[in-house]
Amino acid sequence: MTHKYSFVVMLMLSGIALSGCDVTPPGGRATDPGLRPGTFDPEPIDGVTAAERNLFEAGLEVFREVETVRENGLGPRFNLDSCVGCHLYPTAGGSSPPERNPQFAFYSNHYKSNGKNTLPPFITENGPVREARFKTNADGEPDGGVHGLFTISGLQDADGCDIKQDDFAGQYANGNVSFRIPTPTLGLGLIEAIPDQAIIDNHRAARTNPYKIEHFDPAIAGRLGIYRPGNASPGEYETEQAWTGRQARNGNDGTVTRFGWKAQNKSLLIFSGEAYNVEMGVTNEVFPNEREEKPECQYKEVPNDKTNPEKSGFDVLSDAEKFAAFMRFLAPPKPSLNVKGASSGSIGRGEKVFAAIGCAQCHTPMMKTGNSSTEALRNKEVHLYSDLALHDMGTGLKDDIKQGDAGPRDFRSAPLWGLGQRAFFLHDGRTSDLVEAIEAHSSSGSEADGVISNYRSLTEGQKQSLLNFLRSL
Ligand code: HEC
Ligand code: HEC
Repeated sequence: MTHKYSFVVMLMLSGIALSGCDVTPPGGRATDPGLRPGTFDPEPIDGVTAAERNLFEAGLEVFREVETVRENGLGPRFNLDSCVGCHLYPTAGGSSPPERNPQFAFYSNHYKSNGKNTLPPFITENGPVREARFKTNADGEPDGGVHGLFTISGLQDADGCDIKQDDFAGQYANGNVSFRIPTPTLGLGLIEAIPDQAIIDNHRAARTNPYKIEHFDPAIAGRLGIYRPGNASPGEYETEQAWTGRQARNGNDGTVTRFGWKAQNKSLLIFSGEAYNVEMGVTNEVFPNEREEKPECQYKEVPNDKTNPEKSGFDVLSDAEKFAAFMRFLAPPKPSLNVKGASSGSIGRGEKVFAAIGCAQCHTPMMKTGNSSTEALRNKEVHLYSDLALHDMGTGLKDDIKQGDAGPRDFRSAPLWGLGQRAFFLHDGRTSDLVEAIEAHSSSGSEADGVISNYRSLTEGQKQSLLNFLRSL
């Protein structure tokens, strides 16, 4: 397979002429224009009915609710006490805020004075919200699960429960911890409503793909090393096997899974149930068993949250259902030309660069929803900038965690919508700088290597346009 090829050939193949208008940026080097300003109130997607809007509001209310030990079943181990604590910026449902990390604030408010929990070294005042997975457990077997950062010991309504945190400092020093930061949940109803076939077709031959150039072209992808024509006989580019990136599948029904950094989860309801249990230790009808069943640490019957037929209206619904409804109706991020130092012309040229150098081979600009039973989600364009497929990202990004169909180096092409207001990048939140995030795509074994060498051959002016475009999303 040839990774190296000439940029000129690439441009001819793509049929897109990059114009010479891109001006050399001040200082001679392209830089990340930075966060677009402004937080806003969460809004439902256009076209919801009045009843759907009410359900959205009911969902938002529990999404914002602070969970406690006795009333809601928080813990015994947990990462924070509300969904919105982690999914916060630039609006409820989003991701980490750029400063004042809510996990740091939680530690300062609850444990700093009583010493019952210590602050893991990778949680910092202005760093990203993080969840921690251990690569292997004490006997050397693969672990891969999320380890709750805090315990309820030391919280005021948890007398009698005395459990210790895992040794995060020690495990971290030994290189046994992998991090994940929150993925934003804006527009996820649209992603949920994309038919599997649309995701599969997106990787298929140009013949069946109306977005041949900007989206996926086997000839381009093959040269870039994202796609292995050698895996199929000539003319058989349609076969999924030929594509090195691949769809993650549910082990039971075989349909495409698409949520999470490793495309590990099937639906918003499953993710909600899992997050309630994993992030907050609140058991529910999707994940009914406590992760730690030590009797003196249980303050509520299980599952802690459930459907309640004794109530009326939306109160019948479980919290898990309400979280899912909130995210299903939550409007997608809105692009904006309000990017620092950028003209609309430069942003437009950046969009062309994005396609021409091959970023769009993985970050598919648009897919469409199918015949959804919810009108507001039916046959809609989804400008997600992701193929929702897994790619080998090489040794530089690997997290050593196997999950579902994803291997230790595989990640879902991160949806880039909303990037203009994203404070931290990549699965572990290692950087706030777009240039570093792009450079990190390149390492031994990464499918993105060819595209990144394209990126490196751009002029600084062209790179600046690309960065301006990304911050307009
Ligand atoms: C401690 C921080 C934290 C809390 C609290 C939290 N999350 Fe998350 N959330 C994350 C992280 C980290 C991820 C990425 C997980 C992964 O991919 O493994 C995530 C991912 C998600 C996703 C997947 C989005 C996508 O596009 O892939 C959904 C949905 C979600 N969370 C919903 C919720 C809900 C609902 C709650 C409240 C019950 C919640 N989260 C509470 C940290 C948190
Ligand atoms: C081979 C597929 C592939 C190609 C090509 C590719 N990306 Fe990515 N991109 C990914 C994957 C997978 C991730 C998530 C990696 C991780 O978090 O470890 C990602 C993450 C990102 C992120 C961080 C997003 C976030 O939510 O943190 C940015 C920004 C990005 N890509 C931009 C680009 C740009 C610009 C290009 C072209 C120069 C490009 N990508 C080319 C697959 C690709």
